[in-house]
Amino acid sequence: MSNFLNPKLSAIWHGGDYNPEQWPASVWDEDIALMQESSFKVATIGVFSWAKLEPHEGEFDFSWLDEVIEKLSAEDRYFILATPSAAAPAWMTQKYPEILRTGSDRVRRLHGNRVNYNLCSPVYRQKSALIARKLAERYGDHPRLLAWHLSNEYGGEDFSPETISAFRDWLKAKYGTIEALNAAYWTTFWSHCYSDWDQLDAPGVPHGEVSIQGLTVDWRRFITDATVDFMLNEAAPLREFSPDIPHTTNFMGTFPGLDYRKFTAHLDFASWDSYPGFGGSLDQTSVWISVAFKHDLTRGLSKNGKWMLMECTPNSSNWYETMSVKRPGVHKFEALQAVAHGADGVQYFQWRQSRGSQEQFHGGVVNHGTTNNGRIFGEVKQAGAALDALSNIASTAKRAEVAIIYDWSSRWALDAAVGPVLRDKGYEQTCIDHYRAFWEAGVSVDVIGTDSPLEGYKLVVVPMLYSLSESTSTNLSEYVLAGGTLVSTYLTAWTDENSLVFESGYLGPLRKVFGVWSEEIDALPVGQQVSICTGFDSKAERYSAVDFCELIHPTTSKAIAWYDDEFYAGRPAATVNNYGNGRAYYVGSRNDQRFTNQLMTSIMDDLGIEHLAGELLEGVTRQVRYGDEVEYHFYLNATSLSREVNTVGWGTVRLQPWQVEILERKISAGDEEPVLLAATEG
Ligand code: GAL
Repeated sequence: MSNFLNPKLSAIWHGGDYNPEQWPASVWDEDIALMQESSFKVATIGVFSWAKLEPHEGEFDFSWLDEVIEKLSAEDRYFILATPSAAAPAWMTQKYPEILRTGSDRVRRLHGNRVNYNLCSPVYRQKSALIARKLAERYGDHPRLLAWHLSNEYGGEDFSPETISAFRDWLKAKYGTIEALNAAYWTTFWSHCYSDWDQLDAPGVPHGEVSIQGLTVDWRRFITDATVDFMLNEAAPLREFSPDIPHTTNFMGTFPGLDYRKFTAHLDFASWDSYPGFGGSLDQTSVWISVAFKHDLTRGLSKNGKWMLMECTPNSSNWYETMSVKRPGVHKFEALQAVAHGADGVQYFQWRQSRGSQEQFHGGVVNHGTTNNGRIFGEVKQAGAALDALSNIASTAKRAEVAIIYDWSSRWALDAAVGPVLRDKGYEQTCIDHYRAFWEAGVSVDVIGTDSPLEGYKLVVVPMLYSLSESTSTNLSEYVLAGGTLVSTYLTAWTDENSLVFESGYLGPLRKVFGVWSEEIDALPVGQQVSICTGFDSKAERYSAVDFCELIHPTTSKAIAWYDDEFYAGRPAATVNNYGNGRAYYVGSRNDQRFTNQLMTSIMDDLGIEHLAGELLEGVTRQVRYGDEVEYHFYLNATSLSREVNTVGWGTVRLQPWQVEILERKISAGDEEPVLLAATEG
């Protein structure tokens, strides 16, 4: 099996959403000529085309799509074809109103908008599978078809009667007996015991049950399963008629509504839509780091590490408070950043700006009143040329010695927990803050799940893993026993997977691994800081903690940092424990970034992980991709300032604003020094 997204196009894919049906056929030739000029090779079509493909029930019209595909193919373009289920035609919602989504207020929505469907409606499932079948029968063996794009940005809850009834069935299958469910949910509290499955209802409704955390988290798990099931229903005919065409769907980064890991097994590669919000200034390292984290998360959602950036804006997104435009050079930077993190495709929403409706001011490649004379067209053309020059990088792998675990269940459980603060507990940001330490040190990271295989990683970082299943507990313990190094933080392993606090207390089954027991947590009001130190003599470093200070007791571990404030001054704030052949660090407080960076750097030094901590100026990172014989070192300057960097093997390199420099080195046999092959400007 090749490592390309699809070997039909063995290059970095460059293209985007193309909506020819919004335009008269007279512009299609111009579209395709402009696509050629900008190296726009792959058109994603059909995403919102259902009303044009099936204008009346059971009457299909593929003539316009045939013509578009013919034109694309004749001019050496490829296409990704979407199933159109994200937006139903009006005739359908008129005839079958039950296919519409019901909100948490239990009111069925009216026709319109998108992703407005009843997840469990038998009629909608039948209709969406039928249109998928028609598309697969007609285009499944087309030589220019690269991939199936399943629906668009699956997401959102549905509270229709069919969905609630499916939730009850899901609970029955999970718990078997109502007694087991009551025990898992601790329902004797406030006399919430259930005696019949039909008493169970969806939580999170403004006028309904919100107080049972286990139920809240189960609802999210169920919504994920129901969405995957919906997806598989429309994917089935595609598999049947075109078994060799890969499937993907466009994720939304860390979108909290769905556990994307449940999609992995069913997709052939992952993809996501990246629309970072800069609120004016693009010089925000934290935003670029957050994008990088989501790229690595998406890569980790792919069973084989293959992924592409399905959407980004060529210019601005119209749905932000302020529509600032991308500065010159930033677009190419964004495209190459994705490639540096392993993407084999960079695509846009959308090709031609639409004249009307919701997204008429969203940036396109071809914008109102312009053709190839537009500034943005020029930026896209430059990005296209840069990607063309990297075709030898397509299909090369990303490898990492460090992994960070990102877990939707823990995020949901933390969101549902009433305490230790009612404000956002910052799960995602904490994961990104830990990731930042590696990004700034030029170290590649895999973002993985709780049950992902851990052997092979030198270091695994697991921030705030609040809810811990038995299998994850075993996975982490065995990893350390076998010689791995684990770092966790405050609010780890407080509860089992049903949000019940472990009988043995916080840290439950992981107490031995960390050599610590945790008694209580002091939540700090916004603005309060607690001082932390690495010792009490003049050489000790000082840091500050905010939000959370867990009061921990070392058993077999030793302290590496102490609180230096409050009644707990002098007590350990962070510990390290030798366990089996490995080590486990526990960080009890939410410390400043300097603490996190220094701790990670010293652990990387101990473990012999090559890093550039202290070498790269702010806003600069290095990411590496691996071919069979060659490594590609991407040095990325995510700032509008010119930067100098000390590279590994090439001395000092000057990076212009938003420049990406890609340096190749041969992976030498044995212990020979790496040999520089060539240096290419990205
Ligand atoms: C995405 C969506 C596209 C388009 C784009 C605009 O989330 O998939 O259809 O709406 O946003 O930014």
